[in-house]
Amino acid sequence: MSEDAVELKPSTDMETLVSLCKRRGFLFQSSEIYGGLAGAWDYGPLGVEMKNNVKRAWWRANIQERDDMVGLDAAILMHPEVWRASGHLDTFTDPMVDCRNCKSRFRADELDSDRCPTCEQRGQFTEPRMFNLMLRTFVGPVQDEAATVYLRPETAAGIFVNFENVLTTTRRKLPFGVGQIGKSFRNEITPRNFIFRTREFEQMEIEYFCRPEDSVRMHEQWIADRMAWYGRFGMKKGRLRLRPHDPEELSHYSRGTSDVEYLFPIGWAELEGIANRGDFDLTQHAKFSGKDLNYFDDERSEHIVPHVIEPSLGVDRCTLAFLADSYAEEVDEKGEKRVVLRLHPAIAPMKVAVLPLSRNEKLTPTARDIYARLRKHWMVQYDDAQSIGRRYRRQDEIGTPLCVTVDFQTVEEDQAVTIRERDSMAQVRVPIEGLVEALRERLVDVAG
Ligand code: GAP
Repeated sequence: MSEDAVELKPSTDMETLVSLCKRRGFLFQSSEIYGGLAGAWDYGPLGVEMKNNVKRAWWRANIQERDDMVGLDAAILMHPEVWRASGHLDTFTDPMVDCRNCKSRFRADELDSDRCPTCEQRGQFTEPRMFNLMLRTFVGPVQDEAATVYLRPETAAGIFVNFENVLTTTRRKLPFGVGQIGKSFRNEITPRNFIFRTREFEQMEIEYFCRPEDSVRMHEQWIADRMAWYGRFGMKKGRLRLRPHDPEELSHYSRGTSDVEYLFPIGWAELEGIANRGDFDLTQHAKFSGKDLNYFDDERSEHIVPHVIEPSLGVDRCTLAFLADSYAEEVDEKGEKRVVLRLHPAIAPMKVAVLPLSRNEKLTPTARDIYARLRKHWMVQYDDAQSIGRRYRRQDEIGTPLCVTVDFQTVEEDQAVTIRERDSMAQVRVPIEGLVEALRERLVDVAG
């Protein structure tokens, strides 16, 4: 068995990740100076780069590189009837209980006994009440029932209601799919575990339309494609597994769902859901909107309602999985402990750091010039504070794959620099003239 396939433990605990993310500017608590807002997080300077890279890697593999996929960016606010048709107004609920003693609120399906996790009293829970997870707001100046709209709880609906628009403007034939990345909102009863479950989050969703008789095969193909995507961007096989849903846990729209689960610091949990939604959505939206949402197969001369395969992944949850998966504590060249994020270059927030050996005025102009040149290609950091060893450590900790060191030999002798690799810590000397190419060769699969 390859090392990659061995079942692994989580790389670290959640506290360590949260603390690294805060200390290095990946993630901050939302509205922190006001005491924070539960279920919302802000991405800092490194976090936004990494999150954009996750989205880019997904878009590239699922839209750009495929000739059967197109993209879309639908509005968050939609006609309220959409949610009646999709079933969300009636069925998008979680059972909620309150503790009569301490007033804490829980999801009933997440409790394993009648003991309150907050005050530890037994038998104090209220009867479960069903709680709709959709967040509501109003459009226009009058805040009444007629002006109520919902913040979308999933991006999928934007694709279904545009099925006809995409079909006619792109002249697609089955099978084809539409991918979308965007914000979704759920009034989660118990948001927790950092960015694993939040009230505001982003999703990357695909709705893949196919002939009904092909749907089982397409479902299997998408499961294989999605698993391959995680491998391509370096996720450890031993920390990923597939879990088919039992019939009783299927969502109201699903004929079959398999979750891609990841071994997060909190244990195995859903990372992505890959569902066979059948013809549920197009049929429902046709019924509620009064518009025909079918497909004319001109070879067979028949109208059909396509079936839909839906791989649906949370951007934030995926970012958390990449952070957790890449975290390692090990010993460096000098026998000292180093923390390193072994992020795939495509996911790493910074691709290169330029480090002059010191702040000596002989080194600065060349180092600054290299920094300016590299920034045209990638996100690059410049760091000249403290010892070179400490600067390597700082870059390791944020996952920068390559450091470029400018020393006296560079300016006085050979017009060459040292490239130091994050993972192997190996160093090679390359001429400045060929530096961009030398870096590009090592930054495997980085778009742009
Ligand atoms: N359209 C199908 C759908 O939305 P889902 O299983 O409810 O299915 C898909 O959500 C993915 O969205 C999940 O696998 C997860 O990655 C992400 N997700 C769902 N709720 C989330 C939340 N409250 N916070 C962060 N990510 C969430």
